Amino acid sequence: MAATTLVILGASGDLTKRLLMPALYRLHALGLTRDLRIIGYAMEPWSRERFEQHIHKALQAFSPDYTPAQWNRFRRQLDYVGGQLQADQLLALKDKLDPTALFYLALPPPLFGVAARALGEAGFAKSPRNGWRRLVVEKPFGTDLASAQALRQTMHTHWDEQQILRIDHFLGKETTQNLMVFRFANRFIEPIWNAQHIAQVQITYAETLGVEKRAAYYDKAGALRDMLQNHLMQLFSLTAMAPLAEWDPEVLRNHKVEVLRSTVPITTANVNAHAVRGQYRAGQIGRKKVPGYRNEPGIARSSCTETFAALRLEIDNWRWRGVPFYLRSGKRLATNYSEIAVQFREVPGALPKAVQAGNNWMIFRIRPTEQMDLLVTAKRPGLELAGRPVVLTAPYASPEDREFSAYEQLLMDAIEGDRTHFLRFDEVEWAWKLLTPVLEAWQSGAPDFYAAGSDGPSTQKRLLDPGHAWRSIARNGDV
Ligand code: BG6
Repeated sequence: MAATTLVILGASGDLTKRLLMPALYRLHALGLTRDLRIIGYAMEPWSRERFEQHIHKALQAFSPDYTPAQWNRFRRQLDYVGGQLQADQLLALKDKLDPTALFYLALPPPLFGVAARALGEAGFAKSPRNGWRRLVVEKPFGTDLASAQALRQTMHTHWDEQQILRIDHFLGKETTQNLMVFRFANRFIEPIWNAQHIAQVQITYAETLGVEKRAAYYDKAGALRDMLQNHLMQLFSLTAMAPLAEWDPEVLRNHKVEVLRSTVPITTANVNAHAVRGQYRAGQIGRKKVPGYRNEPGIARSSCTETFAALRLEIDNWRWRGVPFYLRSGKRLATNYSEIAVQFREVPGALPKAVQAGNNWMIFRIRPTEQMDLLVTAKRPGLELAGRPVVLTAPYASPEDREFSAYEQLLMDAIEGDRTHFLRFDEVEWAWKLLTPVLEAWQSGAPDFYAAGSDGPSTQKRLLDPGHAWRSIARNGDV
């Protein structure tokens, strides 16, 4: 790796403290980023020493592999510049940059455009002859189609699409990447990965967490913007996309966009058949009593923001016509449970009565543990020719594997310029386009309520085809 500078804008904030620094620290400990210099940039008029103290505390709290000796090596990589997001103040960074430098916007979303423009005006978007400049942006990218397009416009005043790396941290997760490997590196999957063999797909991301200390952001965003538009849409397109002819980030992203383009548009008239929203009331999770959303600190008593959203999507192409894809995510649900579950169609032909073949399921479990389960029917031992369900389980990692967090993966990719795990603008744009009628419909009316600690609102059932049932969140996926 050539000497590279990483400038983190928003270096005094939460993302830097909780996720970026622990990831950078680990990469450094593994010897992967020895030539990286990290410059924190934020409004606070801190000295370098003061910044070091701040990061030191953060690592002690959030980095499981913190050691004083390792910290002493890591701290030498750190530097700090205080200033506003204005070109004249950002210029203080000029003499500190290596020819190769990236700028990470760890900022509140309304500041993304401001920061990108100010960096451009300071001349930092122009790649020097002997290096490059990149801009890394966190989600959310816009709050609807129009604002996403406007943000793109602002960014493109100075930055090319090729220089912009849009993060969706789910793309850095191991199980998400495994979807591609498992689907395309195993001979028996591709021939059955289509409407002829698959009956339905359920993608669930259930959290027990509530709104936490994010009321100001979350109450404006809601579950559809916070989780579905980005993370679940990514899981959806990776599950449904066609195999690649060439292993290339642009080809991959073309294929993902193709899925979104082939998704049957939801219309204003049929929003209710395709989308359900819910909000949690007070309830109990495990032994803990928790308040309802409207009683959370910072939330208006009359808030109609959805803390649960479910969608039914259909893809109108040769591979998928007739297969519903159900996506859902919510806060304060029964368990931390997340998976992509693919149900196969029933087998034809006659079987002895006692066999009762259930449908096969292929499940990519993300939480509580990363593993793959294949549900099959096998003979029940004994004198009768009877069947019973059996689960073939493959834990994702073996004890000797070294696993990385999403941020370790994404930071390394950003430094190396590998765009595989970043979003191209048209992916973001298509996801917003698909959801626009839902966002519009949900501007009025109220969500359906569900008790905290449950599986979400019972109305989610209305999205399902006859014969389909939501997998149980409380029972970690059993139907
Ligand atoms: C974030 C959302 O993008 O993803 C949060 O803003 C959510 O509301 C989080 O809790 C879930 O991701 P993870 O990786 O923490 O499970």
